Amino acid sequence: MWNNITSCTLWRLSPSFMASRIQTLTPLFIRNYKDFCKNKHTIWTLRNSLCQVMKKTVPTLKCNTIPHRFLSNKARYGQYTKTFPVLDGSIPSVCEHVFEENLRNSEACIQRYSELLCKVSKGGGENAILRHTQRNKKLLVRERLRMLLDDETFLELSPFAGFDLPYGDVPAAGCLTGIGKICGVWCVFMANDATVKGGTIYPISVKKQLRAQQIAVQNRLLLVYLVDSGGAFLPLQAELFPDQSHGGRVFYNEAIMSAMKIPQVAVVCGSCTAGGAYVPTMAEETVIVDKIGSMFLAGPPLVKAATGEDISPEDLGGASMHSKVSGCVDHFASSEKEAYECVRNIILTLNYELPPEETLEYDDPLYSAEELLGLAPRGYSYTLHIKPILSRLIDGSRFQEFKAEYGTTLVTGFAHMEGHLVGIVANNGELTHDASLKGSHFVQLCSQRSIPILFLQNTAPHAPEPTSLSQAEDHTNRLKAQASMMAAVACAAVPKITLVIGGCYGNESYAMCGRSFDPNFLFLWPNARVALVDSKHISTFPQARDDDCTGDDSELMHLKEKLEEESSAFHSSARLWDDGIILPQNSRKVIAQCLTIMKQQKYQIASLQHNPVIRL
Ligand code: COA
Repeated sequence: MWNNITSCTLWRLSPSFMASRIQTLTPLFIRNYKDFCKNKHTIWTLRNSLCQVMKKTVPTLKCNTIPHRFLSNKARYGQYTKTFPVLDGSIPSVCEHVFEENLRNSEACIQRYSELLCKVSKGGGENAILRHTQRNKKLLVRERLRMLLDDETFLELSPFAGFDLPYGDVPAAGCLTGIGKICGVWCVFMANDATVKGGTIYPISVKKQLRAQQIAVQNRLLLVYLVDSGGAFLPLQAELFPDQSHGGRVFYNEAIMSAMKIPQVAVVCGSCTAGGAYVPTMAEETVIVDKIGSMFLAGPPLVKAATGEDISPEDLGGASMHSKVSGCVDHFASSEKEAYECVRNIILTLNYELPPEETLEYDDPLYSAEELLGLAPRGYSYTLHIKPILSRLIDGSRFQEFKAEYGTTLVTGFAHMEGHLVGIVANNGELTHDASLKGSHFVQLCSQRSIPILFLQNTAPHAPEPTSLSQAEDHTNRLKAQASMMAAVACAAVPKITLVIGGCYGNESYAMCGRSFDPNFLFLWPNARVALVDSKHISTFPQARDDDCTGDDSELMHLKEKLEEESSAFHSSARLWDDGIILPQNSRKVIAQCLTIMKQQKYQIASLQHNPVIRL
């Protein structure tokens, strides 16, 4: 029978089919199929014996061409990966000047980053913190997270959301979101910060909450809500109530996520007024903290105005009332500490099968991550070769390059990040016709092999307008190839992470998995520029001629300044066009963390099939 099977077909057989064949072939040795499957060592010994048999019957089969998915972890991350070629990450001395310029710029950006982070950590300011802790006897949001999560190594998302918006500063959008571990399970958390205007919901807070839910859905992570919110920020009600992706969408998503078997747990650890009351009520299990948590559609002042009745928040919608009378909550906790312990116990009932403790073996990059600060371009014209950057991000600086000699303005290949295999697509110049075709091919390869893709984006500002017929033809061909890459990226059914290391300009950014192409995570370096066009190119663009726009020099200058300011990474992050700014030297850690988080979905009990389609 085996003689009829080519080596190629054999290696495409599923492991269970292989096992059943081995079972048939070796009935004397294996009496019980289940015992056999449990014994990994036996299966590998037998598989190897089978290899020997096959080697005799199928002469073309070579042991050193064993496909990746059949290898044990040790083999995957052990001796085989060490054969990936080592990148030369040295920085040529002729580039010293550019390196120094980039370094100065990075240091200035990091200074701004640190200042903003300091502002975020102060929430709504000193008075609000005093009111929250002294008068209202509540814990600060970060203290709550410390009690809830296994450790402090959580990944905070978009901490700069809400800064410098037309309606002012809303630190962290009044709501902390991120991913941390509870009882070993990666969970998305969404926690109102009531020191920021009573935790009320601004338009940017809605956007942040919707993004957290989208991350939970895309990566199939459970969600924990810590609710302490006065509901809608009333002066901006028109911008956060009526539309499809406004406040109500959070509640809609809760229902759909439940139907998708994505568990959601809520803690009422403050006020939940009006719309805010739906978040805990729609969660699958809810805990309320005595004397601190309350839920009502209209608070005591409105009751007084409507009915003339004086009633305390506790009697109207406190912990006792909701756990004994209304049944809106499922667990009564006498303190915040008890409430977070209760959440941890709930997580233990979710019937999650935790990933096996996997200690991946990996080497650190051969070059210092600190030098990434001099490689992070201060502008597109300060871009150095991508390989020195790659060599500072990947394990052992080892890179299995794909199509190294073709379409060289895009670098594609495989590497490991803290032991996780990842396909890398990195800009190294303009996205030409050849580069785009190469990009499509590589993305499809990763999709076929189920390998997550990391896009290192540094796209070029707009190419100049064509001045000849042949240039116009080039543009058309490039357009077609870029469209093909965009289609490949959009349809690749694998997790994607985008890291903008320089420019995120125009249409090329779509092919490099910009926000509208739905990467699982998108981060920026602080030097990144995000805009349709680079402000330096604005003089080459036709001016709008209407009554208000004269197109004179001062207007052009004003437009350039506006564009310059609006292109900064901080402007982008404040509006939640990304999942946060990360420092170049921390990138490897953050990406590896995301790769670990994305793997968790393999271990859930809930099947992806038979679920309603969610549109977030
Ligand atoms: N819209 C706009 N601002 C609001 C607000 C709302 N819904 N709720 C509270 N705020 C503001 C307050 O004006 C105050 O602003 P300030 O710091 O500039 O003075 C700040 O948030 C904190 O409010 P305060 O009442 O002083 O704090 P608190 O901790 O004692 O109480 C609440 C917080 C949320 C319990 C309380 O403010 C409240 O009940 N608000 C009304 C909630 C409501 O009815 N929402 C309906 C939304 S549809």
